[in-house]
Amino acid sequence: MIPEGSLLAAHDLRKTYGSTPALDGASFSVHPGEVVAVMGPSGSGKSTLLHCLAGIITPDSGTITYAGRELSAMSDAERSALRRSDFGFVFQFGQLVPELTCVENVALPLRLDGVKRKAAERTAREWMERLEVDDLAAKRPGEVSGGQGQRVAVARALAGSPKVIFADEPTGALDSLNGERVMELLTEAARSSNVAVVLVTHEARVAAYSDRDVTVRDGRARDLEHAV
Ligand SMILES: Nc1ncnc2c1ncn2[C@@H]1O[C@H](COP(=O)(O)OP(=O)(O)O)[C@@H](O)[C@H]1O
Ligand SMILES: [Mg+2]
Repeated sequence: MIPEGSLLAAHDLRKTYGSTPALDGASFSVHPGEVVAVMGPSGSGKSTLLHCLAGIITPDSGTITYAGRELSAMSDAERSALRRSDFGFVFQFGQLVPELTCVENVALPLRLDGVKRKAAERTAREWMERLEVDDLAAKRPGEVSGGQGQRVAVARALAGSPKVIFADEPTGALDSLNGERVMELLTEAARSSNVAVVLVTHEARVAAYSDRDVTVRDGRARDLEHAV
């Protein structure tokens, strides 16, 4: 049921909102260090799948296994702790804290994990250099462009040394040039640190940065490699 060697795997997930089925038997898996694009039209269940995989929402039925542990067997507190220690997140926009500078934003996951300010900001600056936004350290999110803000968000997702990054339409608000640069930097950094990426997108040119594509239609995920 769980594909061999996978880090994170979901089997037969179902989730209904009222009478709307968002997931209708979706299965999915990702290996350590693998970049998987989850594609599909709007409303097909991509974000719901991502939120289930990340333990943010609980499916009505089905199993999700991360590093050999079933998410549904964990308490809310254990799932929150797992999200902080092992997962990083990049969303379409609006996820940076406007009152904090960019370096404080990138350092935030480390600070929440108990790392001292100086050490957290040193690590944050290293990731900002990798993402080519170190010159923005003292600026607030409102003072940087959309593409720069997404690179800061990617630096923040990576700063906590995650095993998996969940990215939901990370380039959806960017023009194609900035979008491609964000994808290049995100996938380069993830591959060199062996971080798995679950990348939700409806854009083929964004999916081109992945190792493998999975298509979601009407709440069902299909692995294109294994499609019949
Ligand atoms: N919180 C929610 N409340 C009610 N319906 C929802 C909610 N989230 C998603 N849905 C519905 O579930 C379906 C799948 O949504 P979603 O996972 O957001 O799709 P996608 O990310 O592919 O656009 C859609 O019909 C959507 O309207
Ligand atoms: Mg979505």
